[in-house]
Amino acid sequence: MENERPITILGIETSCDETAAAVVTLGPDGPVVRADVVLSQVAAHAPYKGVVPEIAARAHVEGLDGAIAAAMAEAGIGFGDLDGVAATAGPGLIGGVMVGLVTGKAIAMAHDLPLIAVNHLEGHALSPRLAGPVTFPYLLLLVSGGHCQFVAVLGLGDYRRLGSTLDDALGEAFDKTAKLLDLGMPGGPAVEALAARGDATRFDLPRPLLRRDGCDFSFAGLKTAVAREVAQLGAALSEQDKADLCAAFQAAVLDVVEDRTRHAMDALDPMWGAQGRLVVAGGVAANKAIRARLEAVASERNYRFFAPPLRFCTDNAAMIALAGAERLRAGFSDGLDVAARPRWPLDEAGALSRPTHKAGRKGAKA
Ligand code: KG4
Ligand code: ZN
Repeated sequence: MENERPITILGIETSCDETAAAVVTLGPDGPVVRADVVLSQVAAHAPYKGVVPEIAARAHVEGLDGAIAAAMAEAGIGFGDLDGVAATAGPGLIGGVMVGLVTGKAIAMAHDLPLIAVNHLEGHALSPRLAGPVTFPYLLLLVSGGHCQFVAVLGLGDYRRLGSTLDDALGEAFDKTAKLLDLGMPGGPAVEALAARGDATRFDLPRPLLRRDGCDFSFAGLKTAVAREVAQLGAALSEQDKADLCAAFQAAVLDVVEDRTRHAMDALDPMWGAQGRLVVAGGVAANKAIRARLEAVASERNYRFFAPPLRFCTDNAAMIALAGAERLRAGFSDGLDVAARPRWPLDEAGALSRPTHKAGRKGAKA
């Protein structure tokens, strides 16, 4: 039986290059985000044109305590008002994950609170529920810098991966394209902005895996094709060339995303019939052209379409707090000996937690 008492959770996210802390209260009417602090490390990594794991870990060490204090102050509560602490335990850059998880353990231990070790991808998978009542089951397209997969989200902790990328993640493909065109970091927004000013028909770029069975992705060939065009244009590469290449790249991405989504729906239609729901999450879900194309496919296929607000699409701790609250409400938390997992597939996310009575005192009462 679900516990209808409101559950207040501190969430901690440090798996990549955002240091984030949030406070979420999950009540019978759904979650309320009471504080949502995100410290971006973009400036620290910009000179290297990519995330440097050691720099990320150090920046988490420097920023996390302040982010947590700011989130608690914004929520207007003390540690004693919490029902638990949720920290990302993977997948991600191990140094950063360790910083967040160990901090979460320390707070849980000092204040005798249950700890919930959250899979970062589960956070993304549940993120649309921060914004409104998105009920299970739904088809999730998770597209970020490190991940690119279709998941059938059947219930809390019950995730089936339907397809994923064979090489680069979609966000990675945007970032690599941006790097080839010297557009700076992060690449996705820069490519999207330039694409809006470009001619998508000037360059004929490949659409990898289009019309192939299943719903896997592949983006390495598309990136290589962009690299070839850039090399051919050489030093003469103009602003218009860059815009046209961005437009062609994004047009290819849209066609692939549409085709793969149709295939994922084909697999689910016999099971879900008329009540399909499509959710897009992860940093790439910020892309308005991708959202619009997904919305069009959803409407044509009679799926309802959900995309979380942008601040919940990119990495944040509110989604980690919500995943923790949902798990705690369902009776799960983790021991303080739980390990960080740099690799942790989403379809294994249900396996790690164990019943709350093994955790802290408050958990035992819940
Ligand atoms: O979810 P996220 O913040 O971090 C990861 O877990 O990876 O996603 C970041 C990724 C980056 O690759 C970034 O370039 C991409 O999301 N991204 C975008 C856009 N905004 C962010 N890609 C395409 N269009 C955008 N507007
Ligand atoms: Zn992420």
